[in-house]
This record gives sequence, structure tokens and C-alpha cells, in this order.
Amino acid sequence: MDMEKLVSLCKRRGFIFPSSEIYGGLNGFWDYGPLGVELKRNIKDAWWQDNVRSRDDMVGLDCSIIMNPKVWEASGHVGGFSDPMVDCRACKARFRADQLWCIELIPDTDKDTGEPSHFFFTGLGTTEEAWEKNKKKMDKIARHSANPLRSTNLFTAIKEEARKLMPCPECEQAGNLTEPRAFNLMFKTYVGALEESSSVAYLRPETAQGIFVNFKNVCDTGRVKVPFGIAQIGKSFRNEITPRNFTFRSREFEQMEIEFFCHPDQAAEWYKYWRDTRFKWWTDLGLKSEKLRLRDHDKDELAFYSTATADIEYEFPFGVSELEGIAHRGDYDLTQHQKFSGKDLSYFDEEKKERYVPHVIEPSAGADRGTLAFLCEAYTEDTVGGETRTVLKFHPRLAPIKAAVFPLVKRDGMPELAEKIYRDLKSQFNVFHDQTGAIGRRYRRQDEAGTPFGITVDSQTLTDGTVTFRDRDSCRQWRVPSSGVVPALRDLLDGHPVPATEGAGTSGSDPIPQD
Ligand code: GAP
Repeated sequence: MDMEKLVSLCKRRGFIFPSSEIYGGLNGFWDYGPLGVELKRNIKDAWWQDNVRSRDDMVGLDCSIIMNPKVWEASGHVGGFSDPMVDCRACKARFRADQLWCIELIPDTDKDTGEPSHFFFTGLGTTEEAWEKNKKKMDKIARHSANPLRSTNLFTAIKEEARKLMPCPECEQAGNLTEPRAFNLMFKTYVGALEESSSVAYLRPETAQGIFVNFKNVCDTGRVKVPFGIAQIGKSFRNEITPRNFTFRSREFEQMEIEFFCHPDQAAEWYKYWRDTRFKWWTDLGLKSEKLRLRDHDKDELAFYSTATADIEYEFPFGVSELEGIAHRGDYDLTQHQKFSGKDLSYFDEEKKERYVPHVIEPSAGADRGTLAFLCEAYTEDTVGGETRTVLKFHPRLAPIKAAVFPLVKRDGMPELAEKIYRDLKSQFNVFHDQTGAIGRRYRRQDEAGTPFGITVDSQTLTDGTVTFRDRDSCRQWRVPSSGVVPALRDLLDGHPVPATEGAGTSGSDPIPQD
């Protein structure tokens, strides 16, 4: 699937627009249009329904975006939530150092001695890890070299040299890249009238910490007993150095996070449960292809407090990347907040008469990345009736519009009948009414919007009171009594199978064109 085609469809059909586009946009910020907002809302609603409302061991939370800045000291975000970055002094572009460092050090051999005498650096766009891997090779070459790089701090010197030689990926001028500098990803703001250090606050970079700091409040409501979880959906903000790949890495995005609190002895079991349950959730909603993967972190990838973490990854057109992380966080977060707040965040089990700090399993997903993955998976080009069509094959639960109602022609009372059916459906489902253009073109427009069902009032409706139902993916058509349209659509949306083709539009003077 071509990413450019998807981005263009998203803009054209009103799924996703660049933010404040009439002013040239703002890098890393996106707006959801009429179809996009429905899609994203359906994803969040499905998540909330399946993870909160349908469970006995989960409660919800909606906490403020700006919190006491001590929250971020305790969580480690003030001290450590940073990426090293490099600026181009010439064009002012900014890059993540780990995406910039070159790795290849090519020695130019001295004609007389046969020793390496000079270095060329190539391989822009590779990672700091790759650089580190090549350190030994570079050390060895440099040791035998007559080059002034043979200094005590060889590696730093080589990097410095690389920076001098490296052209900026943006303006391509060499020698203008700065030293990497730590760059905190949190957006800073001031609370109150004075812009001084005592009034500094941050836009939250994750929703998770709001859950930890409310753990005691939720326990005190008396509704919950460990094991239980607190779920939250909300905006998070990260001043990403290089926002990229459409909405994948944005500066403002929404997270869907769960902190599941359990007894330390049961944490390994709950971790496995959540790892599998969350993976199944994505597949149940349509990410069925081999593009969805579950990857366990290697030991050396784990945070020091975590005993296990897994990523649910999706193969986007720009590469395989994380959609959700499931982390076993131990008691790290509650212990940190106990330390910084001075409040007791332990839990007392009345039945067992046992006090302990619960361990936490954290499934943390992105609503925007989810939306992008569902769009990528749904995007299909196929041939129907000899014509190529673009169709978004969303799971009906996620589809922005559930059904479109059409009068076949604008006469013989068909528009009025279609309008009535549309009104009956509208009170229960997000449906659409379209009477302009040829019926085939109207089908195509809805295919592109991902609408799973079409309902057409045609000449047979006038004689026997039935309407034509059409399935988006198979293009099958069948007839349903117009009085039963609401329950018929409900059954289909609930997962009842699409009936076999009946040969719709075969009677009457205006047969529905078969796809
Ligand atoms: N509380 C844990 C946490 O925030 P994370 O891996 O940094 O973990 C969790 O983020 C999820 O949030 C990611 O899997 C991703 O779906 C989403 N996410 C993170 N940064 C994002 C960004 N810049 N743009 C869009 N989504 C992002």
C-alpha cells in the first residue's frame, strides 16, 4: 500500500487534515475531519467498552492534563525524558542524533606505508547503536593511522570529525551540525500570571502518571479490590524532535492506557494475560493480517524496574513500528510517588490481612497510531465489474458511517421513502443519505468512506415494499422489507453474516446495477 495514496485519500475524504492548514500547518499536529473523528471515536469507544465497561475489574478515570510538576520529577520525566538532538546552524533544521550518526569509516591508504591515512564517513541516517557497534573497527583503524585522530579520546574525536564532514540531510551543507544536546520532550508552560521558575508546569507526556497519582483516591472510593485496573483515554503531548510518517509520530496525540494493579505474586500471570488479551483486541477489530506482530523485548531492552515488556507492532508502509506496549512495571511507579509525595500508597488486603505495594501491568496504546493502522489495513484497491475501486474495508464496528441510504432515482416517491428510512435509522446509527449522481458512483463514494452497507430504494420497493441491501466488501445484494431495515442493519453490525446473493434489482423498470 502506497502511503501517499492513503494520505491523499484521508485529506480528500475528510479523515485527517494538517493542523491549521490555511496558515501553512504546524509540524507534528493533525486535525481529524468529519469521517476521521468518527473513526477515531469508534476506536476509543470500542477500547472503552471492551476494557472498562464490559469488565468487573476495571474503572475509568479522566484526570487533568496539567498536574503538579512534582509528578514529573517522581516519574523521571523531568530528569530523563529526553532525546539527544543535533541542529543545523545553516538551515536551523533539527534532527535526533540517533537518526543522524554515520557509521562507515573508510580509510584511505597511505601509498608509502600502506597504513590508513585519512577517513571518510558515510551512511547518513543510521543509528547511534550502529555507530557504537562500529566503534571497535574505527578504533583499530585509527590506531594504525598517521591521522591526528590518534588521540586519547579517540571515539569523541572521530565523532567530532564526522560531524564536520557530515552534510545536513535537509540543506546538504557540510560542517554546520552542532553537538548533540539533551532535549526534554515535555512541553513547558506557566501556571498563573508570572512566568517564573516557580510557576513552571508541563503538558503531560503520558496519561499513565495521572492514574498512579489517583491510585489512593480510587482505592478510597471502596469500589475496587486488588487485582483491578484503572483506565484512561486522553491527550498527551511530546515535543518530538522529528515528527514523521503522517500521524504516527505526532506532538499531540491520544493514548488509551491501563494500569492494572495486582499482588506481586500474581504479576507474571497478569502480564501474560494482558499481553495476549491486548493482541487479540486488535485482531478482533480487523488487524488480521500477518502485519500485526507481538514482540517480546530482549533483556537488554528492558527498563531497570521491568521484568518483561512486549510491543504490539504493525507493519506500516514506512516500516514495522509500535502500536502498543505492554509493560510489567513492578512497584516502581507507586514507590516513586510514595517517595516524592510522602503519602502511603500501599494497599491493605482486608481478607488476607496483608499490606503491600501492588505491582503494575501497563497496556499502553495510541489512539492515533491505532487509527492509522486501521486505515492502512483497510485500504484496498480491487476490481469490481471491470472497474478499479478504492475501498476502506473497516470492521463495521469502527466504520465512520454504518450505512448509506439511496433512492435509485429522484422520482416516483423514491426520495421520500429513502428519506423516511434514513430518519428511522438516524436515531440509532450514524447513517448517510445521498441522492446525487449515478447509483454506481454513489456506491463508490461510500466504498471509499468505508461504509459497510448500502440501502437502496428502487422500483421493486414501490411494488413489494422491500429495499436492496448491498455489502461493501463482497458487493452482494439482497432484499429486506423496508419495515425491517433497522433490525436488519443492527444484526449485520452485530456480526450476523451477509446473506447469499439474491440477484437484486432484477424486477421493476430501474434495476440496480450489479457491481
Ligand atoms: N505510559 C507508557 C507510555 O507512554 P510509550 O511507548 O511512550 O509508553 C505508548 O507510549 C503508546 O503511545 C505508543 O505505543 C504509541 O501508540 C503512542 N505514542 C507514543 N508517542 C507517540 C507519538 N509521538 N505520536 C503518536 N503516538 C504516540
